[in-house]
Amino acid sequence: MKKGDQLENIVVETMAAEGKCLAKLNGQVIFIEGGAPGDTVDITLTKIKSSFLEGKVTAIKKLSENRATPFCSHFGTCGGCSWQHINYETQLKYKHQQVIDNLERIGGLTLPPFQQILPSQKTKYYRNKLDYTFTASRWLTKDELTSGIPFGDAGLGYHIPRMYDKVFDVKECFLQPEPSNSIRLLAREVALKENIPFFDLRKQVGFIRTLTIRTANTGETMIILQVTYDKMEWIEKILKSLTDQFPQITSANYIINGKKNDTFADLDVNCWKGNPYITETMPRPDGSGTLQFRVGPKSFYQTNSDQAFELYKVAWRMAGMKGDELVYDLYTGTGTIANFVAGNAKKVVGLEYVAAAIEDAKVNSKINNIHNTDFYAGDMKDLLNDSFLSQHGRPDTIITDPPRAGMHEDVCKMLLKAAAKKIVYVSCNAATQARDLKLLSDQYEVVAVQPVDMFPQTVHVENVASLVRK
Ligand SMILES: C[S@@+](CC[C@H](N)C(=O)[O-])C[C@H]1O[C@@H](n2cnc3c(N)ncnc32)[C@H](O)[C@@H]1O
Repeated sequence: MKKGDQLENIVVETMAAEGKCLAKLNGQVIFIEGGAPGDTVDITLTKIKSSFLEGKVTAIKKLSENRATPFCSHFGTCGGCSWQHINYETQLKYKHQQVIDNLERIGGLTLPPFQQILPSQKTKYYRNKLDYTFTASRWLTKDELTSGIPFGDAGLGYHIPRMYDKVFDVKECFLQPEPSNSIRLLAREVALKENIPFFDLRKQVGFIRTLTIRTANTGETMIILQVTYDKMEWIEKILKSLTDQFPQITSANYIINGKKNDTFADLDVNCWKGNPYITETMPRPDGSGTLQFRVGPKSFYQTNSDQAFELYKVAWRMAGMKGDELVYDLYTGTGTIANFVAGNAKKVVGLEYVAAAIEDAKVNSKINNIHNTDFYAGDMKDLLNDSFLSQHGRPDTIITDPPRAGMHEDVCKMLLKAAAKKIVYVSCNAATQARDLKLLSDQYEVVAVQPVDMFPQTVHVENVASLVRK
């Protein structure tokens, strides 16, 4: 077989890693882009390896019963919700299986029976943060290119998957509740009307770069506009139009970014109107009231706020604290987990990379009248060392919630040295979690596993593992 060959009537068996489908032909594994488990499809081969083949769907001969009708007109172009064509029940089944596969295959671990995956109550409009990119030359779909209708070049939307310089113009998005869609559409309209130059990522020219919209369950909304240079007339035209039209915007910010990329962790954020934060609320785990969390422009907050509560409750239950424990909350972000569990601990120590998030974490303790937390900023592999442990004490319980890359090997080694009785490991990437659990497995046994769906319509899944010292 060679690249470009057509294969007909292939029956898709299951989902594989990274959202691809898997089929078998005479025992040979084929990873397929497109399709759904249960479909019969024709494919073109795109890669030939000795142990597997890769292909792309060219025609669907029979539709699977596991399918759903995609609800967004951008499905297929946008990489955001790549599982819209699969019904939610089936999505959950494969996410659950994905966690089991990773922990068993990569971790090689002996595992307890898994708790059934926790579904998200909202399967649309569940996100609280979206980043949009302005483009001087937007990506055109095949239909647009062949229609002969003039389209204009500027756009505001998402990057095409795996193409850093290709952005398509978003007309609708079902991820974030209003006023998100309306704000994006108005920002685009004002910039076009005022002839404000959209940025060209390839040529690195233009003015207006990105728009981040953060919404909170309190109704507060934050906008962050990135531009390449300090031309207040244009910045104010856009921010004023948006804040005049949408009183929900309680935090309007801009950033001057003359760099090649759009990341702004290292740049100053200028608060133009309102507060330099928005406020989220969450019930306390023991039902004794409500917590408030201030979230700044650079701070991480779990993107599905409702499901964050469910996730934290799982971590809290697994930690099973009695009230006399010293708890470390690693990768604490704005201190959300630390403050969530503080009522049941003697003390919680939160560690995090982003200094601004640590400042938010301290404020979050203060506004919630929590006095038994301490927060420290730094890279985990440098901050969590022997002297930190002797200064702050050995933890009884560790809650860790690293980014997708998982924990640095040195951090895993420190966890072994810290020798806490319990570790609760919250992860958004079961593959790196499996790798880390393996490193901890000499001293720790996994006693419970609970997958949680935070991101419906996508391949992503969150997972919480409870570890006890052997
Ligand atoms: C998945 S988030 C979890 C945040 C928090 N636990 C929560 O639930 O909101 C991971 C956090 O790890 C932080 N982080 C990433 N790399 C880090 C590192 N090397 N050292 C310390 N913190 C890091 C990020 O800034 C982010 O706040």
